[in-house]
Amino acid sequence: MFKLDDHPSGRHFLHIPGPTSVPDRVLRAIDRPTIDHRGPEFGRLTLAILEGLRWLFRTEGPVVIYPSSGTGAWEAALVNTLSPGDHVLMFETGHFATLWRKIADKLGVVVDFVPGDWRSGVDPVLVEARLAADRAHAIKAVLVVHNETSTGVTSNVPAIRQAIDRAGHPALFMVDTVSGIGSIDYRHGAWGVDVTVAGSQKGMMLPPGLSFNAVSDKALSASRSARLPRSYWAWDDIIAMNAKGYFPYTPATNMLYGLHEALAMLREEGLDKVFARHDRLAEATRRAVRAWGLELLCRIPGQCSSVVTAVQMPEGHDADALRREILTRYDMSLGMGLGKVAGRVFRIGHLGYLNDLTLCGALCGVEMGLGVAGVPHRRGGVDAALAYLSGAGEAARAEPKPTLTTA
Ligand SMILES: Cc1ncc(COP(=O)(O)O)c(C=O)c1O
Repeated sequence: MFKLDDHPSGRHFLHIPGPTSVPDRVLRAIDRPTIDHRGPEFGRLTLAILEGLRWLFRTEGPVVIYPSSGTGAWEAALVNTLSPGDHVLMFETGHFATLWRKIADKLGVVVDFVPGDWRSGVDPVLVEARLAADRAHAIKAVLVVHNETSTGVTSNVPAIRQAIDRAGHPALFMVDTVSGIGSIDYRHGAWGVDVTVAGSQKGMMLPPGLSFNAVSDKALSASRSARLPRSYWAWDDIIAMNAKGYFPYTPATNMLYGLHEALAMLREEGLDKVFARHDRLAEATRRAVRAWGLELLCRIPGQCSSVVTAVQMPEGHDADALRREILTRYDMSLGMGLGKVAGRVFRIGHLGYLNDLTLCGALCGVEMGLGVAGVPHRRGGVDAALAYLSGAGEAARAEPKPTLTTA
């Protein structure tokens, strides 16, 4: 047997920005006997899940479930809607925007990749300018990452929609909210998104293994003429069979039990409260970082993510050495710097199934780690977080953050 748990005692602190800690309720649900995926009970389970997903994604349209990681849902969004040689507009907000772009490249889609600084979100002014300049409407889709997990920056999806509309451009609008869904406000329908890409292992509190495409009518009609080759990822067969609660392949039965339970938990807490909890824990984290005298990677305060905080290391200090020290001494996993910021940042995930005390424990681990690793910092980050959570936090609990509607 592999030794998967080498910890002296207590639970491992999983503070990467996904996969996140899976609630015991969800683990227990997954632990039930696998049933016939063509039987009556399974059909009822699927229909209940699909209704729950429409609630979570805030859409009246179909939400397609794939037994894959988020990368599969990225590919599905592209192959269902585009043809070889189609042009799309994308923005270099960080590592995950870059990975999605690479998939588009490999599929033979021509990407106009607007360079970015990995410290800020998509600029709606740039979206409008690029689309307004495309008088021939060669651009078939605008693709953005809602919550850039690599940088801790959130882009303003409604403002980007408004920019597309101001340009009067017919491009499809596709949004990756793999690390946003279930943690921060997201509305596929009201925000006019055509394809939403999401994954199970973050705010949805499930293990990795399921991914999603929410699909608008406009995207469905684009799929009827799209010519990129697809078979397994094709929406039409899945949507047709989903109508009665079944799938054209053997679905991931036990993961679907977990999904049903996770949706119930999100419903019980209520999405407004879920979002307010994330906002509050993120604010406490940022206060800790500032008190340590360290710098956030996110450079625009209104864009800092409520899901993950990326912290820059002081010059000459290695983020991976710090993470190693924290893992060894305190049994906590923090997110590594990815792509262009590898070694220069560490990321504190504060999403999914967590509360004030879980976060405080994580911040204690970071503060102690900074000390033992010899990283120059001031003490008092944990104190700053505690002060916020025990005082100002009350106000934040009562008032969920308003929906982002402007740049
Ligand atoms: C924003 C974002 N998009 C896409 C992905 C890719 O998903 P997966 O690793 O599940 O394939 C991730 C993974 O962390 C992500 O954070």
